[in-house]
Amino acid sequence: MKTLALAFNAFEEYLTQNPPKIPSFHPYFEVALWEMVLNGGKRFRPKLLLSVVAGYAPKSLEKAFPIALALEILHTYSLIHDDLPAMDNAPLRRGCETLHKKYDEVGAILAGDGLNTHAFYCIATSKLKPTIKVKLTQLLSYNGGVYGMVLGQALDCYFERQTLPLEQLKIIHTNKTAKLIAASLEMGGIIAQCNKKTRKKLYNLGLDLGLFFQIRDDIIDSTQSEQEAGKPTHNDGMKNSYVNLLGIVGAKREAKAIQDSILTQLNALNKRTNIYLDQLLQSYFTF
Ligand code: IPE
Ligand code: IPE
Ligand code: MG
Ligand code: MG
Ligand code: MG
Repeated sequence: MKTLALAFNAFEEYLTQNPPKIPSFHPYFEVALWEMVLNGGKRFRPKLLLSVVAGYAPKSLEKAFPIALALEILHTYSLIHDDLPAMDNAPLRRGCETLHKKYDEVGAILAGDGLNTHAFYCIATSKLKPTIKVKLTQLLSYNGGVYGMVLGQALDCYFERQTLPLEQLKIIHTNKTAKLIAASLEMGGIIAQCNKKTRKKLYNLGLDLGLFFQIRDDIIDSTQSEQEAGKPTHNDGMKNSYVNLLGIVGAKREAKAIQDSILTQLNALNKRTNIYLDQLLQSYFTF
C-alpha cells in the first residue's frame, strides 16, 4: 500500500509540474486553463487507473502518469462545462469560484476545450508503445465523448424538468459518469497489458462503480452543505436524479445493492488489484 500512496503523491506532483506551456500574450488564459486542475478534487479517475497499473504491472506506474493526467483533465473539462450558465449554472467547484465567474464565459468554454484536446496530446506524447497509445485514445475518446460523457450530458440537460423512468435515468448516469470511470479502470488494464478477459472485467466493474458514484453524487446534493461538497448543493431540484425519483432511502438502497455487486467483482481481479481498489473505495462506501 505504501508504494501506491507514494505513486498518488508523485502523480499529484507530476500534475502540478506539467501545465501546457503556451506562448501567449493573453492576460489570463494560460492560468485559467490549468487553474481548475490545480484546485484539487478527489482525483478518483487517475487513482483508479494507477491502482490497476500498480496491481498488474507496478513497473509501468511512472509511464502511466501522462495517461492518468489525460483522464483527470478530460474530467476537469467536463466539470468546467457542466458548471456553465447554459448547463448547471454553478458558481463554485472544488471549493473555488468557477472559471466563468472568476474570468468570463469565453475563458471557461475555451479552457474546457483546451483541456479536452490536451488530454489526447498527453496520450500521444507519452512513452508507451504506439499500439497501446492507440487503444488508450480509442477508449478515452469513446467513453469521454459522444458515445459516453458528452451524450450523457446532452440527455441530462435536455430532460431537465421532465421526469424520466428509472431505466432512462440509468442510461443518463451510465453515459455522463459511469463510462469515463469504466474507461479509467480499463485504461489501467491496457497499460498493464492485461488480457482481453481481464480488461472486460475491469470495464464492467467500472460501469457499476460509475453508476454507484453518480447515485452517491445525487445523494451528496441533497444531504451535504456547499462547504462539505465544495460545490453548490440542493441544486438538482429540476434534474433527473436517483434522489428525486426514489427518495433518499430508495437511492441509498440502490447504491448499496450496486456496492455489493462491486465487492463481488473486485474478488475476480488479481489479489493485489483487489486490495488496492478495495482500499481506495472504502471511503466512498460510507455515506
Ligand atoms: C463530479 O466528479 C462529477 C460527477 C461525475 C459526479 P467528482 O466527484 O469526481 O469531482 P472531483 O474531481 O472530485 O472534483
Ligand atoms: C456531472 O454530473 C457529470 C459530468 C459529466 C460532469 P453533475 O452535474 O451531477 O455533477 P456535479 O454535481 O455538478 O459535480
Ligand atoms: Mg450536470
Ligand atoms: Mg453539475
Ligand atoms: Mg451532482
